[in-house]
Amino acid sequence: MTEPKVLEDALRRSQEMYRVLFQMNPNPVWVCDAETLRILAMNDGAIRVYGYAREEFLGLTLPDLHVSDDVPSLLEHASSPQPELVDAGVWRHRKKGGTIIDVELVSQEVLVGGVRALLVMAIDVTDKRRAEEALRRSEYLYRTVASNIPSGAVGLFDRELRYIVVDGAGVLDAAGVSKEALVGKTIGEVLPADTWALLEPLCRSALEGRTANGEVPSRGRTYFIQTLPIPGENGEVSMGMVMALDITARKRAEEVVRRMNEDLERRVAERTAELEDAYHHLQALSAHLQSVREREQARVAREIHDELGQALTGLKFELSRLAQRLRGHPGGVSDQATALGAVVDETIHNVRRISSELRPAILDDLGLVDALEWHAEEFEKRTGITCTIKAPRRRIEAGPDLGIALFRICQEALTNVARHARATAARIVLARNRGHVVLEVHDNGAGIPPAVLTSAKSLGLLGMRERTRAFDGELVIRGAPGEGTVVRVKIPCRD
Ligand SMILES: Nc1ncnc2c1ncn2[C@@H]1O[C@H](COP(=O)(O)OP(=O)(O)OP(=O)(O)O)[C@@H](O)[C@H]1O
Ligand SMILES: [Mg+2]
Repeated sequence: MTEPKVLEDALRRSQEMYRVLFQMNPNPVWVCDAETLRILAMNDGAIRVYGYAREEFLGLTLPDLHVSDDVPSLLEHASSPQPELVDAGVWRHRKKGGTIIDVELVSQEVLVGGVRALLVMAIDVTDKRRAEEALRRSEYLYRTVASNIPSGAVGLFDRELRYIVVDGAGVLDAAGVSKEALVGKTIGEVLPADTWALLEPLCRSALEGRTANGEVPSRGRTYFIQTLPIPGENGEVSMGMVMALDITARKRAEEVVRRMNEDLERRVAERTAELEDAYHHLQALSAHLQSVREREQARVAREIHDELGQALTGLKFELSRLAQRLRGHPGGVSDQATALGAVVDETIHNVRRISSELRPAILDDLGLVDALEWHAEEFEKRTGITCTIKAPRRRIEAGPDLGIALFRICQEALTNVARHARATAARIVLARNRGHVVLEVHDNGAGIPPAVLTSAKSLGLLGMRERTRAFDGELVIRGAPGEGTVVRVKIPCRD
């Protein structure tokens, strides 16, 4: 082959190669007149991306592809000579339908048939730009959140417990150095040893895949710490996140409240102890007064019975002798003496009754069951309210003090029946029952109103309660409107 033929072939091959490169390039490429900027040729990529048909493209100039705001700077850019390959930066282009895309333009001046032209390649970077924008925005948001954590810090650390990033307004307080100075250091290096001792297990558990939290003091403040694992792309934990919230003020407030509570509880306990003390004194005093009163009543009952009773019996005897002697005397003096004897009889009866009420001798002589039977009979006679009693046949060995207490409770309960219940019948039940003695007084009256049970004015009920309590017993009073009332006393008692 001759020399010119070889050169011609090489040139043809090289032109062919450029043509293929131009046509096959997936990015839009076009050639435009350097003076008029009219588009002279374009590849399939340009047709595909911009949506213009080849003929439409040939009627356009380069500025027609640009958004109108950018045209002045484009013209300025195109007017300067560009012998070298120039990366013209990112521009906004308009497609046929009006859609705006971001393109990075690379251009080079070429000679086409002796005319200066520009070879321009456009690379569509719209998606890349959007992704970059989204990333920038999310990073901005993250920074805004992290750096605005008002009283704490947030950070990421790697598997060597080395800070990767730290942020938050409380970093300086917590670590004693700025957030920039922390990056690259291990957490243990910067924190006081006692703080690190508490924090390290939390960080390690994050690296082992578990979230953890705890309260950690550091440099005079207290932090609520939360750590969590951050999985990498392969799913393994590649780093951990630590969040520290300064809870010093809350802790202090809690401490103040706790101390106040303790103080209050102590004072309440003191007052309660004082009140309990006073209450026990009152109980003892009340029991003492009760027994003094019982002794005194017993003494008065005996005096009345013995002294007054004997004197009256003597008087009655003398009067009946006098009546006999006066028999037959005029003026009916003998009858008057007999009538006086009847008055004395009545008085003797009254004296016996009064002395029995003060202290029923029968209680001391025959025991509780007989005393209650006698009292029931007397009650029925006096009030007209039927009063029955059910009691064990054998004596109840209650002892004199318990005996008098139960008798007095029954006496008060029956007095209440007579005074308040408007009942027609009352019933006393006395029973022994596994180490207890139980006394019940039932009536079929109006029923005790619940409000009076707790009223401080109910002194009769209070007296019953006091007597019961003195023997470690319990007193229950129940009443329902129209269904009567039950007073029930249960007192521990040896057999
Ligand atoms: N069996 C009863 N049926 C209905 N109401 C009763 C009965 N027993 C007591 N009450 C009511 O309970 C109140 C308190 O009784 P409590 O024995 O304490 O006082 P009181 O009998 O009024 O006065 P006292 O101090 O003289 O006993 C009575 O005023 C009465 O209203
Ligand atoms: Mg009463």
